[in-house]
Amino acid sequence: MSEFPIGIFDSGIGGLTIQKKINNFLPNENLVYYSDSFNSPYGNKSGQELDEICFNNCEFLINKKCKLIVVACNTATTNCIKKLRSKFNIPFVGVEPAIKPAAKRTKSGKIGVLATEGTLRSKQFNNISEIHTKNIKVIEENAKGLVELIERGIFKGQDLRLILIKHLNRMIEIGIDQLVLGCTHFPLIIDEIKKIIPPKISILESSDAVAKQTKRVLKENNLIKNEGIGNTTFYCNGPTTSLNKILNYNFEIIRIKI
Ligand code: DGL
Repeated sequence: MSEFPIGIFDSGIGGLTIQKKINNFLPNENLVYYSDSFNSPYGNKSGQELDEICFNNCEFLINKKCKLIVVACNTATTNCIKKLRSKFNIPFVGVEPAIKPAAKRTKSGKIGVLATEGTLRSKQFNNISEIHTKNIKVIEENAKGLVELIERGIFKGQDLRLILIKHLNRMIEIGIDQLVLGCTHFPLIIDEIKKIIPPKISILESSDAVAKQTKRVLKENNLIKNEGIGNTTFYCNGPTTSLNKILNYNFEIIRIKI
């Protein structure tokens, strides 16, 4: 069983920020990355649509013999992971906005969360936020339009900058000192974000925590692969342009028809 791969999925290229960390942290493991770019973006889909998409993605990865699934998407995790855990008999690891560490670190008592509409309206996100931010002001921003640009392979430039300024200005004016990137696509544009926010604002994202949690869960389930060099197989069910661009055309991408 430990020889089997870890499955990872997202609505396109965002989950690569997590795949990379898992690959560095668990270099012996084989990975299967499923880029569901056909259904991208997830952020404005209904709960029911997200459930169906996530069930299909998990079925795909389980058919590829994955021993554990990483839901490399905040929107999918906060809306669906509980249902996935009860439907499939396989360990899951998810990703959530790093609200808890941001709340611990803040000195101004104000934190910003940049995430999709789907994440911000989810019960799971609101529960975490309520538990960890009792005396803290949380400025939530629905990051409309960003995932679409990133999926088109736009990681810098004027169009991106204008949208980012629109999303970040209010938080900066209110005086946040922690900015939580609540979507796995956003570390891909961190350089542009840094150009807009003052350096005293720390940026938090969850990929390290997810890689560590993946190791913990593999260990608990006796699923760790300790030998050999792991490889990643990439599958994609929609446009592959940005995936190819970000992987520098170094990997074969297997196209799936759905
Ligand atoms: N990368 C995803 C997330 O972390 C999905 C974004 C989207 O497809 O809207 O939320």
